[in-house]
Amino acid sequence: MRWTTQPCKSLNRSLAIPFDPCFGSHPSTSFSGRVAVVTGANKGIGLEICRQLSARGVTVVLTSRDEERGLAAVRKLEASGAADVVFHQLDVNKSASIASLGDFIHTRFGKLDILVNNAAIGGIASNTQLLDSSKQAMQPVSSSGLANAIVETYELAEDCINTNYYGPKRVTEAFIPLLQSSQSPRIVNVSSLYGKLQYIRSERIKEELRNVDTLSEDRLDQLVQAFMNDFKEGKLDQNVWPTRNMVAYKVAKVALSAYTRILAKRYPKFCINCVNPGFVKTDLNWNLGVLPVEEGAEGPVLLAILPDGSPSGLFYDLKEVSSFE
Ligand SMILES: NC(=O)c1ccc[n+]([C@@H]2O[C@H](COP(=O)([O-])OP(=O)(O)OC[C@H]3O[C@@H](n4cnc5c(N)ncnc54)[C@H](OP(=O)(O)O)[C@@H]3O)[C@@H](O)[C@H]2O)c1
Repeated sequence: MRWTTQPCKSLNRSLAIPFDPCFGSHPSTSFSGRVAVVTGANKGIGLEICRQLSARGVTVVLTSRDEERGLAAVRKLEASGAADVVFHQLDVNKSASIASLGDFIHTRFGKLDILVNNAAIGGIASNTQLLDSSKQAMQPVSSSGLANAIVETYELAEDCINTNYYGPKRVTEAFIPLLQSSQSPRIVNVSSLYGKLQYIRSERIKEELRNVDTLSEDRLDQLVQAFMNDFKEGKLDQNVWPTRNMVAYKVAKVALSAYTRILAKRYPKFCINCVNPGFVKTDLNWNLGVLPVEEGAEGPVLLAILPDGSPSGLFYDLKEVSSFE
């Protein structure tokens, strides 16, 4: 990929590396510290990942699809004492936005050490009446109550697969050359317990996804496309896909898990893992989660700063290695 230069939206004065549009596709500096990009970092777990990485001396590119929300998030981190956090816009569904961020990183740092694919959506709409009545009664919503409170449509599912599976793929593919310029490249795919194979009902599909020695990226994309076709034609049950409670989210996260393993095999010098952050109180679950963001960010941060020689291609449940099953 040929990088070109883009203006920087940094608010951080301590990171005063000169920006010169004449540098074209050449990096303007050989940056010696570690640099991380965190997607979907204007709030929730992503914002906290930025805070914790910054506290560990990593220079963080906090990204957000919305410039105002992203800049406000950087201000918030700076006000709490975080150093070396810069903002750049990134919508993981827009190739031009990804390319623009790539230009920025190439020009400013010449490499990328850590990519945290955190951005995601639920792919659902809420039955707000049910959730409101539960909140008014000061009752936590049970998982079956939550399942009854959500609505899933084909359009929402399409958006979810696009953001939660193809989004990390787009960003990763674009940034592999920058990561290859790092001494210790790390990719962290923020997954979910729903990223485990147990949420796929079809034994045949499960077996295909399990076998990373035979599963190709093309085949993985075909399986995801087959899910979308079955969703459109009302054949989810017939073809043994998940049928309720965040079905597209589950398929996207299971596919992200399989993609993590494919990538780890393809790039043996990288550490590439996925992680369930836990049931964290954020907007994604209407703040019904139980863990604070501080705890939810710990697993992703641990994987982002793994020492050289650490395992790759694994699923972590919070901070512990778990199985893909
Ligand atoms: N919270 C939990 O209990 C839980 C459990 C398991 C896994 N996870 C995973 O943890 C990660 C973070 O979730 P969270 O709970 O912190 O959710 P959140 O508070 O809703 O944050 C999600 C972030 O993703 C961003 N985003 C959505 N679509 C995007 C796009 N197209 N391009 C760029 N950014 C986009 C959102 O931006 P906007 O503000 O612009 O919408 C927001 O910054 C996700 O991968 C999620 O699946 C969370």
